[in-house]
Amino acid sequence: MKQSNQKVLITGGGSGIGLALAKKFLANNNTVIITGRDLAKLEKVKSDNPRIHIFQSDVTDDAEVRILVDDIEQQFGGIDVLINNAGIMNLVDTGNGANDLAKQFSEIDINFNSPIRLVHYFLPQLKKSKEAVIVNVSSGLAYVPFAQSPVYSGTKAAVHFWTQSIRPQLKPHGIKVIELLPPVVATKLAEDADLKDDNLTPMPPEKLADIFWKNYASGREEITPGISKALKIMSRLAPKFYF
Ligand SMILES: NC(=O)c1ccc[n+]([C@@H]2O[C@H](COP(=O)([O-])OP(=O)(O)OC[C@H]3O[C@@H](n4cnc5c(N)ncnc54)[C@H](OP(=O)(O)O)[C@@H]3O)[C@@H](O)[C@H]2O)c1
Repeated sequence: MKQSNQKVLITGGGSGIGLALAKKFLANNNTVIITGRDLAKLEKVKSDNPRIHIFQSDVTDDAEVRILVDDIEQQFGGIDVLINNAGIMNLVDTGNGANDLAKQFSEIDINFNSPIRLVHYFLPQLKKSKEAVIVNVSSGLAYVPFAQSPVYSGTKAAVHFWTQSIRPQLKPHGIKVIELLPPVVATKLAEDADLKDDNLTPMPPEKLADIFWKNYASGREEITPGISKALKIMSRLAPKFYF
């Protein structure tokens, strides 16, 4: 896998895993473009890392994504690597009739519809690239669901199956498809999920980025750091054990 001189777009790259991946690609001489909704957060990243390019863009907003595609085409001549990283996790008690249905549908839109949207609109640029790669960030929960976040678990399983399906479809177009299935990682998302009682030690995002980098170099298609590897095996042998 080519690891330098690539133009890399990371959605949700202003914090957590996306930011750790952005720094890793940057340190290896790539052009790195990150997106997010919160401009102040992106500007802070830019002031700390002046070589990172920032775009305020909501992955769920079709018009904004199309503008992003055009802006990147004009400024950079396209991308080589698309990292679908933006995501949220809501804790939902489905038995509670007062749940906000729109919020649940929005979680599906961010986590599942948006990677499909980004691939759709960036496909012409990826087809033009000599070494195109798509990295979909799903989760170890794609193997074994987490009862407190049923919609999230469903979206990540959906990303997992979608990724497996598009891999052979995009191969003839010269586009490699990689899936990163993180374990619990020390980011705002995991902090908000309050996993303290689950006896899981979150992995630092920088360590996740290191593991990703080694596996990415070797061309591995499914990257399962930490407990995600065990989740994959246990999902076949004894799925209820980890659930
Ligand atoms: N942390 C974990 O334990 C863990 C485990 C497995 C998988 N993951 C996955 O890793 C990915 C990154 O999450 P993280 O843990 O690094 O959490 P994070 O720090 O909260 O990062 C999520 C990023 O997504 C962006 N984002 C959210 N909605 C967006 C939207 N509509 N449009 C554009 N950007 C949006 C956020 O930026 P704005 O708010 O500025 O938009 C934020 O920078 C997610 O897909 C998550 O599901 C995380």
